[in-house]
Amino acid sequence: MSVSQEVSMDLPIIDLDVFLNNPTESPEVQAECAKAAGALITYGALVLHDSRVSEQDNITFLDLLEDYFAQPEEDLKKDERPELSYQIGVTLENTEKPKCAVDEPCLNVIQRLAPSERPLDIMGHEPDPKCRFFWRMVEPPPYKTQFPGLNADNIVPEAPHIKERWTPVMNQWGTSMKNAVEGLTQMAAVGLGLPANTFKDAGRYGPHLLAPTASDLSKYGDLNTILAGFHTDLNFLTIHGRSRYPGLHIWARNTGKKIPVKIPQGNYLLVQAGKQLEYITGGLIKAGYHEVVVNEKTKEVIQERKEKFPERPLVRISSTFFWHLSSDYDLAPIPELATKAKEVRAQQFNLGKDEGEEVEYPPLKVGEQVSDELKHIALMAK
Ligand SMILES: [Fe+2]
Repeated sequence: MSVSQEVSMDLPIIDLDVFLNNPTESPEVQAECAKAAGALITYGALVLHDSRVSEQDNITFLDLLEDYFAQPEEDLKKDERPELSYQIGVTLENTEKPKCAVDEPCLNVIQRLAPSERPLDIMGHEPDPKCRFFWRMVEPPPYKTQFPGLNADNIVPEAPHIKERWTPVMNQWGTSMKNAVEGLTQMAAVGLGLPANTFKDAGRYGPHLLAPTASDLSKYGDLNTILAGFHTDLNFLTIHGRSRYPGLHIWARNTGKKIPVKIPQGNYLLVQAGKQLEYITGGLIKAGYHEVVVNEKTKEVIQERKEKFPERPLVRISSTFFWHLSSDYDLAPIPELATKAKEVRAQQFNLGKDEGEEVEYPPLKVGEQVSDELKHIALMAK
């Protein structure tokens, strides 16, 4: 049996508490950081435990966002900013296209999967039936940014029953997830043999986004409906709190398997690698593919919530935070990691695992990489 077939289907659980409560040089911290880096290399994802994170904050956040997205469309429209490429405020359903449907290397990724492990078919090229809100959580850069459009002010919804609650709830939950993911950037750096703050410093002024998405399950609740088609994220790391409805599937890079995500109850979060992490590691860590669909488990929870909470909106909120590198940061593979990436690729190849054509990572500004990706998914004019 080859090594690749022995990879477990359970995502590794990484304990941020170990890192926060012990000296970086201690053996337990070194081991936990190595485990974090290994998880990102093998799966492109992991489950993160952080005892500072409160389940109640996630619940309060999900309730607020259900109320927000249950508003009439004309109220939601007031929070749209197409002129800023929807990088702030709301994006209504059927605007964002799954990038993979128009991207050849991505379609090849699907082709290489066994038929039973493939995502739901995205070839209809339909935009995703999901709404989203972008809430920026940034430290303004002390220099003049070349990318002011990616660094605009937040929008607070007007409706009185939402306005009052909005800012504190968004900031409370957003800060929890931001702190957790920043801790993980440090653990990943240590595990990759870099100074702990390598990534954290590179993302200090990043246009980080608390980015809940909403899917109206009263309209899009049929089995096998695609809520977000197969894609990777363009940022550095994405962190998710637990959603009330299952339906997120991820693909672990070195297993070729589709994994339905289960986040344990309590202080656990899911983290996935994005394109910027792939870039800076020269492909040692690959951005993780994922989709959100209505599966059997989603249907069960829809039924359950209809019975238990008939007065609540039937909306699936994903509790998502996109952590970015700073827009003006010069993005290029770190040479030691790029060398390691080539070794891992060769090992995979020798195990009979075709990872497709080798990807080039030419140096560029992070802001340029983000603009390129947004054009692909139809959010920014070409
Ligand atoms: Fe995503």
